[in-house]
Amino acid sequence: MRQWIVAGNWKMHNTVAESIALAKAIKEGAAGLQGGTVVLAPPFTALASVHQVIQGSPVCLAAQNMYPEDKGAFTGEVSPLMLKDVGCSYVIIGHSERRKYFLEQDTDVNRKVKKATACELIAVMCVGETDEERDRGITQDIVGRQVQTGLSGMENLENVVIAYEPVWAIGTGKVATPAQAQEVHGFIRGLLRRLYGGPAAEQTRIIYGGSVTRDNIGDLIAMEDIDGALVGGASLKADQFLGIIEKTSSAK
Ligand code: PGA
Repeated sequence: MRQWIVAGNWKMHNTVAESIALAKAIKEGAAGLQGGTVVLAPPFTALASVHQVIQGSPVCLAAQNMYPEDKGAFTGEVSPLMLKDVGCSYVIIGHSERRKYFLEQDTDVNRKVKKATACELIAVMCVGETDEERDRGITQDIVGRQVQTGLSGMENLENVVIAYEPVWAIGTGKVATPAQAQEVHGFIRGLLRRLYGGPAAEQTRIIYGGSVTRDNIGDLIAMEDIDGALVGGASLKADQFLGIIEKTSSAK
């Protein structure tokens, strides 16, 4: 069976002190939970401090991005080896904000996913359509292309989590309905089945992101192909985030 996963993407929020306080509250609140994984993705500046807090606990550390080289003259970038050095076991790749503001293409996402997994980081690869693409009825074309190109050349999915995050649902308060989300999750799993075979597709975790709260997670997580959540805004408040984790773990 697939294990659930709930990841908090803190984006460009929280000082080191704020990050430490939030990580402590989440670590304490999530202690004893079983059958799944809680992941925190603070900004780069707080990774080492949050690692100190969660070390020895089941909570895992993620970065929000990386550059797909070990080291070199790439001013302003951070390598997967550096992320591992500060305690990361996960990295978010291809978030829609990276695609939109920093012009990341599917081919960049692919390079990063390949490099991250080669370095034994678990890549949380984000995909999702815009509202205009949904209105035009091309959601599956867009998401299919993002998944296929993003995974191009990957021999297996062992260190890959896919996050379906419709762009129109991110930070807007406009969450996808459980049926809308399930439809795309089911489509992605079907695509993985064709590309990697049944057992790999069944084992790969596909999580939903976009305006998830503790009030709407229950109906989403009840869907067959939704294995957890990637949470932005609601991950910045310990009680909200813990509520999402509790509902996920009791449903799965
Ligand atoms: P949101 O962000 O929960 O604030 O909508 C989700 C994300 O960007 O991963």
